[in-house]
Amino acid sequence: MPEPREFRAPGRVNLIGGQVDYHEGWVVSMAIDRDVHASARPRADGRITARSRDLDGAVDIACDATTDPRTVVPAWGRTVAGVASVLTELGCRIAGADLEIASTVPIGAGLSSSAAFEVACALALVDRAGFALAGADLARAAQRAEHVATGVPCGIQDQMTSVCNRDGHAIFLDCRTLEIEHVPLPAELRVLVVHSGVPRVLEATPYAQRRAESEAVAAQLGVRVLRDASLDQVRDLPRGRHAVTEMARVRAFAGALRAHDLDALGPLMLASHASSRDDMGVSIPELDILVDALVGAGALGARLTGAGFGGCVVALAPAGDADAIAARATAAYRERTGRAPVAWVVRAAAGAGAVRAR
Ligand code: GLA
Repeated sequence: MPEPREFRAPGRVNLIGGQVDYHEGWVVSMAIDRDVHASARPRADGRITARSRDLDGAVDIACDATTDPRTVVPAWGRTVAGVASVLTELGCRIAGADLEIASTVPIGAGLSSSAAFEVACALALVDRAGFALAGADLARAAQRAEHVATGVPCGIQDQMTSVCNRDGHAIFLDCRTLEIEHVPLPAELRVLVVHSGVPRVLEATPYAQRRAESEAVAAQLGVRVLRDASLDQVRDLPRGRHAVTEMARVRAFAGALRAHDLDALGPLMLASHASSRDDMGVSIPELDILVDALVGAGALGARLTGAGFGGCVVALAPAGDADAIAARATAAYRERTGRAPVAWVVRAAAGAGAVRAR
């Protein structure tokens, strides 16, 4: 039997643009050199099985999408079922398959392990079915699979980044049009990701509640999404103020990257963190301490990344000092919180695709 084709999809780190994708705002985000690999071996009995090298249990579902994704056990199989059901809705005739999955994206860290999982599984199943799905359509399908499988009303930035990033670049993404500009990362800088040691599972955080609160602001103002609100309208409405000011910061950040204005990047990240904390209410004390520790250790700027409420902080550091900054910041953080942080210097990776040709 020929070896099954293997697909990979990377996790991502959101450099700036928190809680704005679902308001059709802009984000700057990059895929990282941590990914989920998935391959699908044909099987003839109309079932999809899945095994993961990292997660317990074996998944066994019908491939005609008759399985309700939210009832699948083990719970990680809900995502497999969600992907299968969304692909079926799109007209893909899912074929029986044994999926093998392996991941190096830390789980519950805010690095989009779930988006990477959805995209990698979708690519393997789509390939097995001889169906075509790529780019923004693939990202949208993966996003919908997350909604169907977990009920988390995530936006589109994680899946778009995992699908569309380029090696050495970040994406400046317009979440309304899904237009992408690939912006090179300055060679003088490194991207540091530091896990606070506080795990979080998106379903168990107030993410959906925060989203609903900011959508209530849009409704109050009579706009569909906060992209269409002005600063004047939201001046006294913290959730709205976060969204409108964050969108402006993202555009300034993308402009600074384009103009190679490195000094502008750090302050924008710090302002983003402060707004996420004070106006949006998605930080926790550990993340604030970690941001302080990174800046105190010499980072240009830092902010919480992903949904917040735990997980990771992202920082930009001068290339030559990144390791030393990480060491100093993690020591200071450990001393202040008693928690065990983990730091990585991450590289901007290419978006999802086949690992090797058939
Ligand atoms: C999670 C969601 C994203 C986005 C971020 C917050 O990562 O999956 O769509 O909303 O939170 O910016």
